[in-house]
Amino acid sequence: MTRTSRLPGFYKVSVEERRALVSEATGADEDEIVRSLEGGGLDEETADKFVENVIGTYGLPYGVALNVRVNGSDHVVPMVVEEPSVVAAASNAARMVREGGGFTAEADAPLMTAQVQLTHVRDRAAAKERILASTRALLELADGAIPGLVERGGGARDLEVRELGSDEDAMLAVHVYVDCRDAMGANLVNGMAERIAPNLAEIASARVGLRILSNLCDRRCVRIVCRVPAKVLATEEMSGDEVIDGIVNASRFAELDPYRAATHNKGIMNGIDAVVIATGNDWRAVEAGAHAFAARDGQYRPLATWRREGDHLVGRLELPLALGTVGGTLRVHPAARLSLRLLAVTNAQELATIAASVGLASNLAALRALATCGIQRGHMALHARSVALAAGATGDEVERVATMIVEARNITLEAAQNALRVVRGPAAEGASGTLGEVTLD
Ligand code: MEV
Repeated sequence: MTRTSRLPGFYKVSVEERRALVSEATGADEDEIVRSLEGGGLDEETADKFVENVIGTYGLPYGVALNVRVNGSDHVVPMVVEEPSVVAAASNAARMVREGGGFTAEADAPLMTAQVQLTHVRDRAAAKERILASTRALLELADGAIPGLVERGGGARDLEVRELGSDEDAMLAVHVYVDCRDAMGANLVNGMAERIAPNLAEIASARVGLRILSNLCDRRCVRIVCRVPAKVLATEEMSGDEVIDGIVNASRFAELDPYRAATHNKGIMNGIDAVVIATGNDWRAVEAGAHAFAARDGQYRPLATWRREGDHLVGRLELPLALGTVGGTLRVHPAARLSLRLLAVTNAQELATIAASVGLASNLAALRALATCGIQRGHMALHARSVALAAGATGDEVERVATMIVEARNITLEAAQNALRVVRGPAAEGASGTLGEVTLD
């Protein structure tokens, strides 16, 4: 079966029909899709085992991004997000990127960083030297704490010592880099850090401080590149070349200004977080790592930049991305397991490249909108659907009411209620009303 993520007209059909299309495109059983997503995929009993003091569960929409091609393979990408237009924007931008061959991606080995803090260090340089001289024995000790991971081909790979503080609060931060294979690795790495800390303290003649992973896992980065032909970027009002100039200008703005860089990166994380959540991964860890990485040289910078190369727009994204395809939430959350099944990824590195590609697509969509008609037009069209729902529209009525209030440029609950009366015909009570600039009679 050749997998495709190109499903034209997908957004127009019912939820049920979409499930059938996803099943056909991915080979996932349709019943499994229905079962895994029932009630948000999480029953009360299971939820009660996840966290404490449970009194219920909290649902979020589960959509799929289409058109995503990474390193020549197509993926239907699950996204869990509450913000209208994020899924549509990622799918649209991925379609443009596809015209240039799709995303090219690479991921570092899945190396997590464990930190052991050593305090009360009398001579930092000498202590550092002694630790480094014991590297081999310390890595063996570390491996002894994670035998299951070592069996799966992972384990401690390297050690680094950083000198911190002044003479008054001299400390060392010992980093142990652990290949976590397909696990996110938090528990493995924290357990290992606790195990080797006393030995480190003894070697350094110091006291043990904290023993915990660093979310700035900059040895576990992904890098994505995409090349988009000018012609597919054109809008009704602007040529493709003009759009490229606008997007490069937007990129430069973010490169020069941390205030803009924060919003630019928020647009990237719209895509990444949605995939991270859908696959049962820790989005707070991903967020912390991304923003720390963005500020690594002292100025907060954009994670993705855009340049013109001939008649193409070229986007580049780099960030640390610690994702797992085994363990944790994945073991128990049916919707998270379904997500991996739909994605058909073979390992955690591949998952990271797909999530990051969706991030770059989200960034492209946002910058293209901002550099052309502005973000509100598209946002409002989708927001109108939520307003139509809030007004009581169901089935086909939702799209009709949404279209009416968008055309009337009055996306309010009152306008939607009036539009709904009109849609339901003269039988409906008070069939005339105003949508603001346009009167419906
Ligand atoms: C909104 O969720 C995201 C944007 O603000 C991103 C951006 O400004 O680049 C549109």
